[in-house]
Amino acid sequence: MSKLSDKHLLGIKNLTRADIDLIFQTADNFKDVINRPIKKVPSLRDITIANIFFENSTRTRLSFELAEKRLSADVVNFSSSSSSVKKGETLLDTVNNILAMKVDMVVMRHGSPGAPHFLAKHIDANIVNAGDGTHEHPTQALLDTYSIRERLGTVEGKKVAIIGDILHSRVAMSNIFALQKMGAEVMVCGPNTLLPKHIDELGLQVELDVRKALEWCDVANVLRIQLERQQIKYFPSLREYALYYGINKQLLDSLSKQITIMHPGPINRGVELSSDVADSEHAIILDQVENGVAVRMAVLYLLAGIGDITN
Ligand code: CP
Repeated sequence: MSKLSDKHLLGIKNLTRADIDLIFQTADNFKDVINRPIKKVPSLRDITIANIFFENSTRTRLSFELAEKRLSADVVNFSSSSSSVKKGETLLDTVNNILAMKVDMVVMRHGSPGAPHFLAKHIDANIVNAGDGTHEHPTQALLDTYSIRERLGTVEGKKVAIIGDILHSRVAMSNIFALQKMGAEVMVCGPNTLLPKHIDELGLQVELDVRKALEWCDVANVLRIQLERQQIKYFPSLREYALYYGINKQLLDSLSKQITIMHPGPINRGVELSSDVADSEHAIILDQVENGVAVRMAVLYLLAGIGDITN
């Protein structure tokens, strides 16, 4: 049986291209499953998964829970805001207590970069990183890259511009690694203040002018301005950001070609994207969300390393 090269999914950086190809092929099968009248397979019926979220989430949390239930896993959900973390319990004590209840896999979102790596060193269960601070968000990058493959037929050779708040974005870092491994050309575009200092070392193109980035690319993956991570002012106002970096229909109509628009969500409508772009036929934002369930089913199934997809 085909397996991933690691028992955890902590980031894209350490995945191989063969790992990503295997996840995509497995997700293709699960996409068929979730489009059937009976959307469930018993593949993980003996597995218990804990979703432990120390940061807010809508898409990732629901998508993982749905993926787990479609695979017939037993699921427990933990939210730090209503837990004994508020009484001072440490991350390791919290997780060890959850594992004492015979949990096999942990899906974790945490505000600190490296938190899932720390857990992976101390516990036996499979760990899936559902976003760690500004570091990585591997399943988001997998579903984004899978969605490009679905829309354009391949990722190899495609030009993808990642636009916006690169500095604070775990989605940007994971997307850069995934796209490069799959053979895409990658550009980042944003105001100088929102680009990491060492971005040149990643083998990317860097562009400050959003029109030039859009003229260059086949796909624009537009990121949210992460105000909650910005302790200082990186641009004068949201209005000015929208003026220089916001993508609206007028700007897209003025290009010499049509491009595919992506956004990981949640969208700040009227800031990164106007509503007529976010809701247009060229935007695949809800396809990304739909594909997220199949891709997460594939990741969980492969990490569990058991059974046959159809039984
Ligand atoms: N894309 C994403 O991670 O969204 P959530 O924060 O809602 O999970």
